[in-house]
Amino acid sequence: MTEAPATGPYERPRSIGILGGTGPQGRGLARRFAAAGYQVVIGSRSAERAAAAAADFTGLPVSGVANADAAGADLVIVAVPYDGHAELLGELAPKLAGKIVVDCVNRIGFDKQGPYAIAVPDGSSAQEAARILPDSTVIGAFHHVSSVLLDDPGVDRVELDVLVLGEDRAAIESVCDLVTAIPGARGIYGGRLRNCGQVEALTANIIAINRRYKVHAGIRITDV
Ligand SMILES: NC(=O)c1ccc[n+]([C@@H]2O[C@H](COP(=O)([O-])OP(=O)(O)OC[C@H]3O[C@@H](n4cnc5c(N)ncnc54)[C@H](OP(=O)(O)O)[C@@H]3O)[C@@H](O)[C@H]2O)c1
Repeated sequence: MTEAPATGPYERPRSIGILGGTGPQGRGLARRFAAAGYQVVIGSRSAERAAAAAADFTGLPVSGVANADAAGADLVIVAVPYDGHAELLGELAPKLAGKIVVDCVNRIGFDKQGPYAIAVPDGSSAQEAARILPDSTVIGAFHHVSSVLLDDPGVDRVELDVLVLGEDRAAIESVCDLVTAIPGARGIYGGRLRNCGQVEALTANIIAINRRYKVHAGIRITDV
């Protein structure tokens, strides 16, 4: 049996904190989760920036606070660039203990040839998070979802699959349920965290596809 063991079940989160939620990915996820009825707490290094970002979501349950306060939500998503990842998680580790922490960080570089994956010493950003947060349940997910589609209220459905990776089956199921907040999206178990490196790296291929075909591509897993 290769699937992860269960240690939950986890209650459905009422609030979702998004570290680095002022960026495109955080805003896009915030829009979809809030539209599905979750209380979304956008986090930032600046509480003022977070409040300004939250003010853009008129009529939706979105607030903006410092990252340390967003880390107090029931479930927390990490949506910062790789360069700030380890430092931020190290600071917030005590606040994140006991929670599901969903990491969507892709370490991608760009040069004259286009996008490329940069190796992460731990194997993946998610594994780095798991090392820094031994008392949290780290899940890798949302790596390939286009922030442009997520944050466009005119896009009714985002037709793709979200690979959900982790060590805890109940937490994986909880995050797969969260994925359904994005109409058209499915959460599919993608393996243990040691398999997250290639999922994060695949983002470079998807960005190359987007550039060539002028699209916002996603992936679909067949026969599931
Ligand atoms: N954009 C996408 O379509 C997409 C899709 C899938 C996954 N992702 C991944 O999601 C993450 C966020 O993507 P993004 O495009 O939203 O990135 P971003 O705009 O570059 O960064 C998001 C936010 O992170 C904060 N931040 C920046 N540098 C930081 C640092 N050194 N330490 C702590 N916080 C920092 C900033 O917020 P404050 O200045 O307000 O603190 C910023 O608004 C990335 O790891 C990316 O690989 C992105």
